[in-house]
Amino acid sequence: MITRIRSLIVLLSFLFVNMPEISANSSKNVSIAVIGAGFAGLAAVGHLRELGFEDITVFEGSNRFGGRVYSIPYGKGRIQMGAQWVNGKNNAIYKIAEKMGLVVGELADDDVFESANIFAGKCGISETLVNEFYDFAIPLEEKYTSFADASKGSYNISIADLYEDDFQAFLNKKWRSRKELGHLDALSRFYKGYFEGEWGAFKDLALANFDQWDDDENELKAYVLDSTGYWGVAKYLKQRVPDEMIEYNHVVRKINYSGEKTTIMIENGSNLKFYPKKFDYVIVTTSLGHLKKHARSMFKPQLPKKKLEAIDRLGFGNLLKVDLVYDEPWWNENSSTLATLRVKGCSESHPLMSHFHSFDALEWADNQIES
Ligand SMILES: *[C@@H]1O[C@H](CO)[C@@H](O)[C@H](O)[C@H]1NC(C)=O
Ligand SMILES: *[C@@H]1O[C@H](CO)[C@@H](O)[C@H](O)[C@H]1NC(C)=O
Ligand SMILES: *[C@@H]1O[C@H](CO)[C@@H](O)[C@H](O)[C@H]1NC(C)=O
Ligand SMILES: *[C@@H]1O[C@H](CO)[C@@H](O)[C@H](O)[C@H]1NC(C)=O
Ligand SMILES: *[C@@H]1O[C@H](CO)[C@@H](O)[C@H](O)[C@H]1NC(C)=O
Ligand SMILES: *[C@@H]1O[C@H](CO)[C@@H](O)[C@H](O)[C@H]1NC(C)=O
Repeated sequence: MITRIRSLIVLLSFLFVNMPEISANSSKNVSIAVIGAGFAGLAAVGHLRELGFEDITVFEGSNRFGGRVYSIPYGKGRIQMGAQWVNGKNNAIYKIAEKMGLVVGELADDDVFESANIFAGKCGISETLVNEFYDFAIPLEEKYTSFADASKGSYNISIADLYEDDFQAFLNKKWRSRKELGHLDALSRFYKGYFEGEWGAFKDLALANFDQWDDDENELKAYVLDSTGYWGVAKYLKQRVPDEMIEYNHVVRKINYSGEKTTIMIENGSNLKFYPKKFDYVIVTTSLGHLKKHARSMFKPQLPKKKLEAIDRLGFGNLLKVDLVYDEPWWNENSSTLATLRVKGCSESHPLMSHFHSFDALEWADNQIES
């Protein structure tokens, strides 16, 4: 599965609470709490410090910075448990990655299919059938994009619904043997897996995404980072935030901004306790998932209805990554994707593998593939 997560850094969760205009000309003698030491939190602190604000406390629930960007050292590099690729150049992440010399290549979305090496177990698979399926499937993304453009207002249809109809129509075009149907079903799962990887969703993916997603590139592609990956971007952002400003292992449960100063309650075991300092301003950068679960209990007064509704309606998907390490590579070095199709009766892989439809060779390790 290709895990190029689009707009992983959910800047939408960059909520400003009790925060009129902090501008370069306002008094610098104000205390600011930033909730979360992920990318949004670290970037906010860096920016505030550039403007001259120094009385800042960052509350981080875990014992590390980086948030959804989380990488662990492995072999000659780092395995990116979170964000991995950069979509488009016209964004802050790309600019930092380029400045730090992290960008080492690019990957066109179509490569997933065009250069895929297909494995279908002991039965093999006909190249003609694969090409027939590709001819059907590859133009779909463009088709759905035009459809989304044309159907403003009614684009809350899910991509999965459109696809399943199209796939049925494709199957019905001519008689297929049971074996062909099995292979087409596996190819279809590979294609859906590509969507799951690209967008983090398929069943719940609204057509709206195709109209609103814009990475400012002529064709869909992702930039590949070196063995340091997003960790390099995280370190860059962290440089501007002194350690003394961050309170690690501080899980914020309540933010009371109804008074003159904002009070914050921290979880401590099963108790809550007031953080001793009070703040003039609070910036909340917790993830959308955290807000979905806690937004209604976290803020005093309650967030505006409009924001709560947006938090409810926005969605995101889950991805599970698996890295496989071999003594020697067994795959063709020139294929960027290894499609591992599970066809009934043709392979005896572990049931867990039914969730992984394709693997990619890692840029920086020739004996490692990742799904
Ligand atoms: C800051 O400057 C802007 C424009 O110059 C002005 O409109 C605003 O009132 C100023 N804010 C403060 C707090 O002085
Ligand atoms: C900053 O604010 C604090 C508390 O509001 C006050 O005690 C202190 O004198 C102020 N410092 C300056 C330099 O204005
Ligand atoms: C899609 O939007 C229309 C119009 O806003 C609404 O009537 C319909 O219930 C929505 N469908 C879904 C599945 O949310
Ligand atoms: C929130 O703060 C206000 C003003 O300081 C206070 O009156 C109120 O009791 C607090 N509410 C809660 C639930 O702590
Ligand atoms: C939680 O409580 C323990 C025991 O009172 C204390 O040592 C610890 O510092 C507290 N943690 C936080 C985050 O306040
Ligand atoms: C990979 O591509 C290069 C350059 O086109 C070629 O020389 C090499 O033989 C290819 N390797 C395999 C295993 O096909």
